[in-house]
Amino acid sequence: MHDLENFRLFQLPLAQRLVLSLVLIVLGVGYVIATYNLYLTYNLTDGEPGLTVSDLRRAFYGRRDNTKIASKIHGGSMEQFLRKAGDKEKILTWIQDGAEQATYETTVRPILAENCVRCHNPNGLQRFAPLTSYEEVMTVTQIDRGEPVGLWARVAHTHIQSIGLIFLVLAGAFSFTSVRQPVKLCVITLPFIMLLVDFGARFLAKYWPNIVYLMIASGASIGLLFAVMILVPMYEMWLRRP
Ligand code: HEC
Repeated sequence: MHDLENFRLFQLPLAQRLVLSLVLIVLGVGYVIATYNLYLTYNLTDGEPGLTVSDLRRAFYGRRDNTKIASKIHGGSMEQFLRKAGDKEKILTWIQDGAEQATYETTVRPILAENCVRCHNPNGLQRFAPLTSYEEVMTVTQIDRGEPVGLWARVAHTHIQSIGLIFLVLAGAFSFTSVRQPVKLCVITLPFIMLLVDFGARFLAKYWPNIVYLMIASGASIGLLFAVMILVPMYEMWLRRP
């Protein structure tokens, strides 16, 4: 066991170094795509391109002076789909007048059917938020409190478990580099802590909007740690031959 402590990645035979390198590369590429996916999902939340604090606050805390559907179609990411002049105003007026079912059937349903249902249906891109019936539309015609707890739970449990396993590989590889012991122990521990902080902050943002700053900080440090845990092992395996 004592030998294992002094074992370094460059001592691995070629085939094993190749396997480990390919895993590190694929995990790194996956991380970059995940970041791009995050950008695509949230950059238009506040109606302006570019991912900012205001997008995150709106996605996770919501806009408590507004309903979800109104904040989406009025200065939000869904406004672009209402092409015909006056349609937006018709929906907003309907909400202000108390969101009655009768007016929904005559005025709102046709607008949604024409512009929204192609994604917002049980088989569409936005199957978690269908807009095909009065009841479904009413679920987004209430005060906008941001991401529902159920969605948080669905995203958090899969992400924490799968990213935890990814960190097992990355931190495991990093643990066999020749980085100084105290630094090594930090780099190995931090990603796991930051992962919990990140999803904890995402949950708390529902109650305390400014905690999105902590979410951004933990997310950014995860990105940095990802890079360190991939690049240092790669460097030691292929470039730094003693
Ligand atoms: C091209 C597919 C597409 C079309 C068309 C579309 N949406 Fe969306 N919608 C999405 C996606 C993807 C999201 C999640 C990302 C976001 O919130 O920006 C979303 C989110 C929403 C939400 C928030 C749902 C929730 O529970 O978080 C509402 C409300 C909404 N859309 C309303 C509309 C309305 C109203 C229209 C028609 C004017 C419309 N959408 C057209 C894809 C679409």
